[in-house]
Amino acid sequence: MSNSPVEFANVDFFYTGNDPELGAQPEGGLKAAEDVTQVFSELSLELPDGVMSLVGQNGSGKSTLLLLAGARLFPARGTVTLLGSDTRMFVGAVEDPELEQRRNELVSFVYQNMEFETHDSIGDLMEFVYENGFHGDRSPSFLGELQRTLELDGVLEKRTQQLSKGQLQRAIIAFSMLYGSRIIMMDEPVFALEEYQKHRAFELLTDFAARTGTSVYYSVHELELTRKYSQYMALFYSSDTVCIGPTEELYSRENIEEAYQVPMDMLHRKEGLYREALLKLSKQKP
Ligand SMILES: Nc1ncnc2c1ncn2[C@@H]1O[C@H](COP(=O)(O)OP(=O)(O)OP(=O)(O)O)[C@@H](O)[C@H]1O
Ligand SMILES: [Mg+2]
Repeated sequence: MSNSPVEFANVDFFYTGNDPELGAQPEGGLKAAEDVTQVFSELSLELPDGVMSLVGQNGSGKSTLLLLAGARLFPARGTVTLLGSDTRMFVGAVEDPELEQRRNELVSFVYQNMEFETHDSIGDLMEFVYENGFHGDRSPSFLGELQRTLELDGVLEKRTQQLSKGQLQRAIIAFSMLYGSRIIMMDEPVFALEEYQKHRAFELLTDFAARTGTSVYYSVHELELTRKYSQYMALFYSSDTVCIGPTEELYSRENIEEAYQVPMDMLHRKEGLYREALLKLSKQKP
């Protein structure tokens, strides 16, 4: 058996219609052909233990891969093995709190554009998550460290629905570390942050991962963050060609230009445009 926390073996995955839940049927009955978007076909790979970023063009399958690896979506064919278990055992987690808890102990998920309303304040939630999460030993100074570094001191009395997009993203990053799952999946977790805050957040995350032995897999559109804050990268040339390796080896102008089909200098401009698009989208949400 390998040491990889998540393994894909011959995975096929497709979305049907516009509803991701429909594509999530384990033995998915196909509807009319025009309703189907095939994303992965016979995909086999192993995610390494440690911190890995997922990088590649829009629509290449980064979010879908994270959702499959995190047992939030399930393959139509083939198997995703999460810490030794077929993820299909978690198909019922949406309506079974005990099963959901078991899944979350293995893997938590920070969705792109996560929004939720809470009755409790951010400060109370942080304490609650830390006390009721999965950390074996807790350090009293950790909460304060997260609040300071992620600049949450000023919003501890507020509720999630009263936060700006950036404040909410920083709170969610804090929750993900306080929760203490063995693996954390993060889909575009910092797009709404200021540049310096992105670096702080990733410094914190990578230190945390190394100290606690947590694996962190994240998608990100800024290559500079990938270069600085990942041990491994998954470079999506297309959804059928995903290359995983040490960032030191894979991160080169040649590889990146081939994956994105765009010269490196233009990519930086594209990164900015993508961030603006995400922000606009998150503001349009009710
Ligand atoms: N809910 C959905 N229903 C139908 N098709 C979808 C759905 N979500 C994604 N897709 C399609 O699946 C493919 C992979 O999408 P995915 O969101 O995984 O890509 P991505 O690499 O995360 O893109 P981005 O960089 O824009 O976040 C794309 O062709 C996309 O259009
Ligand atoms: Mg995505």
